[in-house]
This record gives sequence, structure tokens and C-alpha cells, in this order.
Amino acid sequence: RSRDELAAALVGQDLAPTRGRPYRRAVVMTMGALHAGHLSLVEQARDLADTVVVTIFVNPLQFAPSEDLARYPRDLDADLDLLTAPGLLGPDDVVFAPDVAVMYPGGDPVVRVTAGAIGEVLEGAVRPGHLDGVVTVVLKLLHLTQPDVAIFGRKDAQQLAAIRRMARDLEVAVEIVGAPLVRDDDGLALSSRNAYLTTAQRADALALPAALQAGVAAADEGADAVRAAARARLVGLDVDYVALVDPDTFDEVPDDHTGEVLLLLAARVGTTRLIDNTALVLGAD
Ligand code: PAJ
Repeated sequence: RSRDELAAALVGQDLAPTRGRPYRRAVVMTMGALHAGHLSLVEQARDLADTVVVTIFVNPLQFAPSEDLARYPRDLDADLDLLTAPGLLGPDDVVFAPDVAVMYPGGDPVVRVTAGAIGEVLEGAVRPGHLDGVVTVVLKLLHLTQPDVAIFGRKDAQQLAAIRRMARDLEVAVEIVGAPLVRDDDGLALSSRNAYLTTAQRADALALPAALQAGVAAADEGADAVRAAARARLVGLDVDYVALVDPDTFDEVPDDHTGEVLLLLAARVGTTRLIDNTALVLGAD
């Protein structure tokens, strides 16, 4: 769990890829409270690379003072049980679960990375500084774990876009791979924050995937119709945004736009903030 232990675990792994896999070392970064969505990323990492590093770190830098840092679910033993289940990780794989003092030995870092324009809209508008905190810790974890490939879920589509842009703009020699969003049987996107929901709230939360489906069904009628159809399914929830954006820039698309876009939703159910999204093709006909 110390930096030295991490370095020691990684020494001797500097081999060329074997067994026909495209990469030598993959990293999957998480904040713990692991669920099947996280584990799907680990499975993809295992398929892509000879060795896998999983990081577990609840990063204070990406939480505003008003947010749920203190109550964010933490259960390292349960996480390790999931990761050490047969067939997932191998003997050479590493779990890096540093304390805050290990990641930020001098206190909060003075020099940080900013996510730029992508960090200021949507999630960044509702959570100022959040994506700056994410790209800063991701860059630190990339330096610490030295992967050839890093896998992030499309559940956090804006985060994925911000990380891609950071890696490109700062010449980070790593392949960034986006992994499919994993849903529960009822359609709700898996999230560590789902643990906060009561049974009744969970039923209300199903409006998010329903809104995405309604948006997809309206794709042939144009951008405004998609936004309206999605919004109509969210009546009664405390909606932060319904957005239809270009997948690279996260700029809102005009009504006459055609081609692939992302429909993004954020809403509060009780005090729990949930996000969800889907890709769709506008004006497919
Ligand atoms: P966390 O929310 O724990 O998510 C870790 C990774 O799992 C992210 O890449 C996220 O997109 C992915 N993930 C979460 N739920 C998913 C789901 N239902 N389907 C597919 N992938 C899912 O995202 C973070 O942590 C942090 O911001 C982090 C990148 C670790 C930086 O602190």
C-alpha cells in the first residue's frame, strides 16, 4: 500500500506483451465500493494486458466541501474479496489502495491539472473543480502505475472525455480505453452511490434509464425532440441537466445536427445525485 510496495510489485514486470495480448500492463482506477461495473473494467483489463493494476482511492481533490467525501462508501475488505475471487486477478496483478497521506504527502498538491472547457460544462458546471480533481489524480496514478493502457467506464462519459483530452494535451504515453456502461437487471446504471437509495427512491431512479430510452426512440426527430422526450420522463425528479452533446467536445448540438451524439442526464433522487448517458445517432433516416 506504500509507494515502495507498489514499485517493488511492478519491478520485473517490464516484459514485452506475451500470450498475444496487445498490452503489457493495464490500470483500472476506482474509488472502491466495487460493483459489477468496476469488475467488468478489470475483466477487460485482464483481456487486454498481461498484468493488471487496480487502484482504490477516494480522491479528496474531486469532492467539493459540500459533497459526500466523508460518507462516500468505503469497504476495502469487501473490495479485496471481490478482486481476489477466483478467475479475476492473477498472481502478478496488483491492487494499490493508498491512504490520502501516501497520495498527497505534502497535503493538497500546489500544482494541478485543469480539465479546461470540458471541465466547466454539465458535471463541471454543477460540480466546479470536480473534473480538475479527477484529471489531476488520474495523471498522478498514471505516473505511479506506468501502464500501457488505462480503462475507464463510459458510465462517466464526461470524465472519460476529459481524461482522453488530458492524456493527449500532456503527451501521456498511455492508451485510454472506454468500457461499456453496466446496468442492473432493472436498467439502473450500476453506481457505488446506489447504496444510498431507499427502495422507493430506487424505483424513482428508474426514470433515468427510461428517459434515455425515450430519447433514443426520438432520435429520428432531431436533437430538440430527443431532449424533450428525455425531459418528459424526468418530471418530478430534481434534474440538474438533460444534454445532447458532441462526444469529443461536449458542446451542445444544434437541432439540425446529425450523426453520433451523447444524451447525458443528471438528477437528484432524495439527496443522491445520479448520472446516466447513452450514445445515439441523430437523424438516422
Ligand atoms: P469510480 O466512480 O469508482 O469509478 C471507477 C471506474 O469505474 C470509472 O472508470 C467509472 O466510469 C467506472 N464505472 C463506474 N460505474 C460503472 C458502470 N456502471 N459501468 C461501467 N463502468 C463503470 O470514476 C471514478 O471512480 C474516479 O473519478 C476515478 C477515475 C477513479 C478518479 O478518482
